[in-house]
Amino acid sequence: MSQQLEQVKALISLREKARLGGGQKRIDSQHQKGKFTARERINMLLDEGSFEEFDMFVTHRCTNFGMQATTFLGDGVVTGYGTVAGRLVYVFAQDFTVFGGSLSETLAMKICKIMDQAMKMGAPVIGLNDSGGARIQEGVNALAGYAEIFQRNILASGVVPQISAILGPCAGGAVYSPALTDFNIMTKGTSYMFLTGPTVVKSVTGEDVTQEQLGGASVHATKSGVAHFAVDTEEEAIATIRELLSFLPQNNMEEPPYLPTNDAIDRLEDSLNEIIPDSPNKPYDMYEVIGAIVDDGRFLEVHRDYAKNIIVGFARFGGTAVGIVANQPKVLAGVLDNNSSRKAARFIRFCDAFNIPLVTLVDVPGFLPGTQQEYGGIILHGAKLLYAYGEATVPKVTVTLRKSYGGAYCVMSSKHLRGDINYAWPTAEIAVMGPSGAIGILYGKEVAAAEDPVAFAAEKEKEYRDAFANPYNAAKYGYIDDVIEPRNTRFRVIRALEQLSTKKLANPAKKHDNLPL
Ligand code: HXC
Repeated sequence: MSQQLEQVKALISLREKARLGGGQKRIDSQHQKGKFTARERINMLLDEGSFEEFDMFVTHRCTNFGMQATTFLGDGVVTGYGTVAGRLVYVFAQDFTVFGGSLSETLAMKICKIMDQAMKMGAPVIGLNDSGGARIQEGVNALAGYAEIFQRNILASGVVPQISAILGPCAGGAVYSPALTDFNIMTKGTSYMFLTGPTVVKSVTGEDVTQEQLGGASVHATKSGVAHFAVDTEEEAIATIRELLSFLPQNNMEEPPYLPTNDAIDRLEDSLNEIIPDSPNKPYDMYEVIGAIVDDGRFLEVHRDYAKNIIVGFARFGGTAVGIVANQPKVLAGVLDNNSSRKAARFIRFCDAFNIPLVTLVDVPGFLPGTQQEYGGIILHGAKLLYAYGEATVPKVTVTLRKSYGGAYCVMSSKHLRGDINYAWPTAEIAVMGPSGAIGILYGKEVAAAEDPVAFAAEKEKEYRDAFANPYNAAKYGYIDDVIEPRNTRFRVIRALEQLSTKKLANPAKKHDNLPL
């Protein structure tokens, strides 16, 4: 065998060794926990055969605790690039079989390298997280590694999409990199995110709590809002990343991908002409409206289980990707509260950063009053939503279906916050407040003194309803561009988006804004 051939063979065997990560025993243990390995995950994510790996021969440089005796090629993370549906993405997958995927100085350098490449090339970064946190033996070098990643997450924010899947433990400062990215997808039962684990919690606060109760996928999908998606399997997590990418541009200088559809743009949905109940206090399901008007009824919902009184997610209208924000009358009457305001504000800012038009469906009785909300900061959180809509320069199409009262009218993509096209259904009620509240304030004394208070209040409510609880008063002032037939909503929204496709609008130059945090 020639010397060159021997060298080639040596390379191949080194590669095989690297591909085994921490060894077959640990790979088996990973499988026994119902988890895939880093390389298996990357293979599932990327188009077949598209993966090009970097830094397979990197090893850690730590000599503390005799660490020099144990090195693994690749050092606990698999990094590189490939394609998803033919489009370039950069990816890292932490390898739990090597020191539990814990973050060393060199592991951080590998992640930073692909993040730097992604920024230069203008392509998304996908992180598949499964790690015991900072590699304890490396001390401050591991912490420095995290901070280097955080810095890159921050600079990449709003420039290239960043998506994190949490597919195992994610402890300590490790949670902050995913938190800085645009979307977190967690697998139920196998992934956890917390600053400190149950043992530390017990010693500091005395609280007994399991990993699942503290930071499982369900907790973060329903209570904290840290997880945008909670899925049953890793396959589902990967499929969610791929679908998410299909709505996103490669970077903030590009438009989102256009996907031709066979769904007729002028499709009429007769059911929408009868979807609003006669009683203003009766709910209907906003999902039915969304499903009826978007291409092929396909809606990728974000934060499905968190603050369900508002719905956000991606869909297409005539092939154009949009972000949908919709009040949900079925949950808390669609009221705006702290969590729903934060949820929608974050989504709107993402869409605006990545040139994704916003379609807003309004049916909102107002902001939720009370001490709980006030103490929780509804003034600040509500202001975030207001701010997000007001600063957004992407095309903004708004349809008011029913209620649009008070501050919530202003906030929900109104004309005054640079809404481009504002339509209303004939069932819309746009006013300072609902009829019964208004009559209580305007005619409280008269109602109390009336011979028949109920009849008197009803008469006044009718007067108020005729004057204000309709779309025509707002349309009279041009705040509503047109009152449309509900069944025609799909067509009208598509026409509006077509018209707005060349929209150019820029905010004043500034270092950065000062969003009420
Ligand atoms: C070095 C680690 C490690 C770590 C795990 N390992 N975490 N090695 N540093 N942080 C190693 C284990 O020694 C073991 O090595 C292998 O990974 C698998 O770990 P197990 O404990 O056997 O696995 P499991 O039972 O599944 O438990 C996983 C775990 C647990 C829940 C993640 O390992 C754990 O609690 N680790 C520590 C978590 C943590 O507190 N990290 C520090 C957070 S502080 P062998 O050789 O046996 O395979 C932090 C600060 C960052 O991250 C601040 C940034 C701002």
